[in-house]
Amino acid sequence: MERIQKRIAASGVASRRKAEALILEGRVKVNGQVVDSLGVKVGPKDEVTVDDIVVSKLSSLYLVLNKPRGYLCTVSDEFNRKTVMDLVPEEFREAKVFPVGRLDYDTKGIILLTNDGDFMNKMVGPKSGIQKEYLVRINGIITSDALNRLQNGVMINGKMTLPAIVSLESIDRNNSSSLVKIVITQGMNHQIKEMFKVVGHEVKRLTRIRFGNIKIDDLSEGEIRRLTIHEVKTLLELSKQSKILPISKRR
Ligand code: URA
Repeated sequence: MERIQKRIAASGVASRRKAEALILEGRVKVNGQVVDSLGVKVGPKDEVTVDDIVVSKLSSLYLVLNKPRGYLCTVSDEFNRKTVMDLVPEEFREAKVFPVGRLDYDTKGIILLTNDGDFMNKMVGPKSGIQKEYLVRINGIITSDALNRLQNGVMINGKMTLPAIVSLESIDRNNSSSLVKIVITQGMNHQIKEMFKVVGHEVKRLTRIRFGNIKIDDLSEGEIRRLTIHEVKTLLELSKQSKILPISKRR
């Protein structure tokens, strides 16, 4: 349930303050009944109108979650394992949100959720140019040759990966491991793990630290928040970019 002025504002019809004014002016109805107090809450199935025009029965919702390890990116699981939906507050679950693409069970980091299928297709569809940035802890000391191969593209499951932006963050000689940052625009199955496997390294820990303009910085693990309208608009713009990353940014 959400306050009616929040629903109106989320639909883009008016700002929250303007929505409050519309309510007080008696121009708003819920399921055909005029509502003139600001405290009224509506559920996803309630019909809200302004001047008898349906605002939206189910407002589009855009969320970002910092997914911890040990959660599946599905709406339900036949084996009753934890899913990202367990981290979604009731009010958002009612709006029937689902994850935008997938992170593996043991991957943590940024995952968007929405109830807008069109938005989801634009984000993770085959044409999407959205950049996904990962921090990858791998076994072994990576060579510059391997980094170059990852950057230029490697063959996984019979398909060549597109050029990536790759940088070596640090090397831990005592524990024989390396930390690598990589930016990709594709979303093949287990792409990062498969790419590193091709160059001879096992991924020990994987974190998605950025999805387009949405960074992990301000979210603690398991935390969820709404995206702002500005963030959603920027994501839609970024999705239209080419999948081919600019050469200047590559190693
Ligand atoms: N690549 C992977 O291998 N796993 C993820 O979860 C995301 C990208």
